[in-house]
Amino acid sequence: MSYINDMIADRFRDKSFDIAKEDYKFIKIKHAKRDIRTRYPNIELIDLGIGEPDSPADLEVVNVLCNEAGKPENRWYSDNGIPEFQEAAAKYLSKVYGVSDIDPHHEILHGIGAKSILSMLPLCFINPGDITITTIPSYPIISTHTKYLGGVVYGLPLTKSNNFYPDFSNIPNIILYRSKLLYINYPNNPTGQVATEDFYKRVIDFAHKNNIVVVADSSYSALTFDGEKPFSFLSVDGAKEVGVEIHSLSKAFNMTGWRLAFIVGNSDVIDIFGTVKANSDSGQFRAIQKSGITALEHPEITDKNCEKYSRRFDLLIEVLHEVGFNVDKPKATFYCYVPIPKGTKSGVTFTNAEDFSLFLLNKSFICTVPWDTPEPYVRLSVTFEAEDYNEEKRIIEEIRTRLLALDLEF
Ligand SMILES: Cc1ncc(COP(=O)(O)O)c(C=O)c1O
Repeated sequence: MSYINDMIADRFRDKSFDIAKEDYKFIKIKHAKRDIRTRYPNIELIDLGIGEPDSPADLEVVNVLCNEAGKPENRWYSDNGIPEFQEAAAKYLSKVYGVSDIDPHHEILHGIGAKSILSMLPLCFINPGDITITTIPSYPIISTHTKYLGGVVYGLPLTKSNNFYPDFSNIPNIILYRSKLLYINYPNNPTGQVATEDFYKRVIDFAHKNNIVVVADSSYSALTFDGEKPFSFLSVDGAKEVGVEIHSLSKAFNMTGWRLAFIVGNSDVIDIFGTVKANSDSGQFRAIQKSGITALEHPEITDKNCEKYSRRFDLLIEVLHEVGFNVDKPKATFYCYVPIPKGTKSGVTFTNAEDFSLFLLNKSFICTVPWDTPEPYVRLSVTFEAEDYNEEKRIIEEIRTRLLALDLEF
């Protein structure tokens, strides 16, 4: 018998870890998907569960990587990054978001993806017993690492009744007293909600009053359509005094696997983040940072993605309405968040979103991602693989036929 299992740190035995439950849910859906593919290899599985762009990175960006990868000057550890990338990030913020008061050398650092940045921030601030406030649902990484450090996570529900914005007014003083970090993510995964200036002003006010550091995850903020403009937390007065924003090249520039993002804002946060980062990784490959510069210099790459996702949503939302779902087209991201039906007219009842998601997968070969807390919703992503508009129309017509055949009851 191996003793290794007995040596694993207690933190991984804590069954109350939300991430463990979330992982379990994703693993269950993943297994069900694999099972369906094995059992029915000839039936087309339509995957609306994927949180990654279906297109590759822009050819010009790829060419920069090809040219730079073999150059001797790019071979070194890049440590906390090359200044040219920080400068390009500052110019990008000014051009796309109108944020022009950023010092690229003291207020920006690159990261090996937004996920990696989020995983390091608790180490900068959280002592045992300290609290990270987040939303439910939420991208889980900052919470996971808060818990690893003996911190506590306090969740603010995003519900239809609060229009998917956290309500700061009912947090008990005992929680506020120990709270150090507030994590928000707009445009939001999974709800698709976008931030407003009024919302960000409330966030800044709340942070000021309670001495809380705001982490605004803007991974999707460039993916907007239907008149919605990319909107930065840092464009609102006072934001830089209370926090930072994280931008990722993953979604906006179809570079998920390239692992490149940046953190920008309050120089004290950037400073301590730099210390943790320097002790955790040695920076992203310079050739990738140089490709990232090319991407940031061409925000029109993102425009093409926005047009595509918007076009797909127009088709999908019409079908969802015809089937009976109560859902609006989002103004940003590639996600729409849909309340689950009660069941089917033939007598099937859905007790929760996971139930419905598995039913859709097994009966219609359509993959979705379920959320049950705080309300039962499924997330549909328009990142299914389709080469052109005709293929998009074909897939969505297929979704229509399969969903109508279920005779869902709402
Ligand atoms: C809200 C949110 N933040 C961060 C990330 C991770 O981004 P990156 O690829 O830059 O690590 C994701 C990825 O799905 C996300 O949904």
